[in-house]
Amino acid sequence: MKNKYLYIQTFGCQMNVHDSEQMAALLADSGYKTTDNAKLADLIILNTCSIREKAAQKVYSELGRLGKLKDHNSELIIGVGGCLAQHLGSRFHKKVSRLDFVFGTHNIHRLPEMVAAVCKKREKITSINFHKNIHSIGIYAPPVNGQLIAFVTIMQGCNNYCAYCVVPYLRGPEMSRPPGDIIEEINKLADQGLKEVTLLGQNVNSYGNTLEKGINFTSLIKKIGKVSGIERIRFTTSHPRDLSEELINCFTEEEKLCEHIHLPVQSGSNRLLALMNRGYSVEDYLKKVDRLRHGCPQISITSDIIVGFPGETERDYQETIDMMEKIRFDSTFSFKYSERKGTAAEKLEGKIADCEKQRRLKLLQDLQDKHTLEKNTELEGSRQELLIEGRSKNSENDLMGRTSSWKIVNFKGKQELIGKMMDITITKSYLHSLRGKLIEEVGNVN
Ligand code: SAH
Ligand code: SF4
Ligand code: F3S
Repeated sequence: MKNKYLYIQTFGCQMNVHDSEQMAALLADSGYKTTDNAKLADLIILNTCSIREKAAQKVYSELGRLGKLKDHNSELIIGVGGCLAQHLGSRFHKKVSRLDFVFGTHNIHRLPEMVAAVCKKREKITSINFHKNIHSIGIYAPPVNGQLIAFVTIMQGCNNYCAYCVVPYLRGPEMSRPPGDIIEEINKLADQGLKEVTLLGQNVNSYGNTLEKGINFTSLIKKIGKVSGIERIRFTTSHPRDLSEELINCFTEEEKLCEHIHLPVQSGSNRLLALMNRGYSVEDYLKKVDRLRHGCPQISITSDIIVGFPGETERDYQETIDMMEKIRFDSTFSFKYSERKGTAAEKLEGKIADCEKQRRLKLLQDLQDKHTLEKNTELEGSRQELLIEGRSKNSENDLMGRTSSWKIVNFKGKQELIGKMMDITITKSYLHSLRGKLIEEVGNVN
């Protein structure tokens, strides 16, 4: 039988990256091999994002480009999944005539069936129903080519309804996956050589709320800590409001939990935090940062910040800058507020002009770069444990690994070290990476 090729392009967050891995795994069972050359593909899937207008625009332009491949290959099938697909449903077919199927965030498990139906009948399909049982969450994606790090979904959806955000509408209500299923998957991954897991959820701090009493996020971390072979545990994302004392203590108590937390603050103005429906104040946030740093002084803290939320005054913005100066994040993702249909913020007054949002974003990012470089410089001369992930992007002779705090370190080392945990000394710091020397070889290399 002729090989069939699948080309998947992913937009958006880590959740979507993992969903794409699951799609590839499901379709491999139907005989599809993944390719990174769209021209070879028999099946193209775009796993879309709708978090900001720019993310949605990127999807349309890629669909325009990839749709043209149908001119040369009348058998080619094109489908869209993910959050923009969930949002548009059958309207996607009207907007993009060359689409064959549209599937939403709860319907990944139906992929083989949909592809088979398109092959057979050549009719347009849409599947965007939400399901009470999340069939898609536990699809097992086996590790590929010496993969060391894997995502594991522990929950789906979100109930928080932050005023700017589309996720609760597109991923459905929050639902936690039973711990037994999660541990079974992690055991399987560890058996196949995986060293590190990143637990995924929109708000991992509320893990367990939809399960029986006594199951919460820290109890899950402790269980995962006992899986032999797994050396490191990470998670994303945690909501500052729900960051418990118990989880803060976990950073000191649970050896495998990495010294990094991504804790999106969004704004440094209490007035805006209330309008955003975030459920904490700047003071609450600062207290939690203090507690985290008190228990684990070397913890790296990263965050998300939105500028130009409706009604953001120069004073609100300045309060965000002041908060950044107080906290000095290791790094941040920062965004211009993007209006999304159906969200509470859409109805708010005081929309900010794009050029003003741009100005605020640029100043904020310059400040963050300064802090990131300072933070990285503080690490020079320190000893760090790395999981060596592979070859460095910068140089053929270098390897690359990450510190527990999620920083990239490039260093000279032999291929055989890939997959090992090794100690290094940081010798030089840059904005986006660090340079290091293996401890045993200090004095011999570089
Ligand atoms: N569930 C996660 C992340 C959700 S999306 C959390 O709560 O932290 C990732 C980031 O995108 C958010 O933290 C926010 O900073 C940003 N974001 C979400 N909606 C946005 C919008 N409409 N405009 C600009 N940025 C947005
Ligand atoms: Fe969006 Fe807020 Fe839910 Fe995060 S917690 S996904 S920002 S609604
Ligand atoms: Fe985008 Fe959906 Fe993730 S909107 S950021 S892909 S949850």
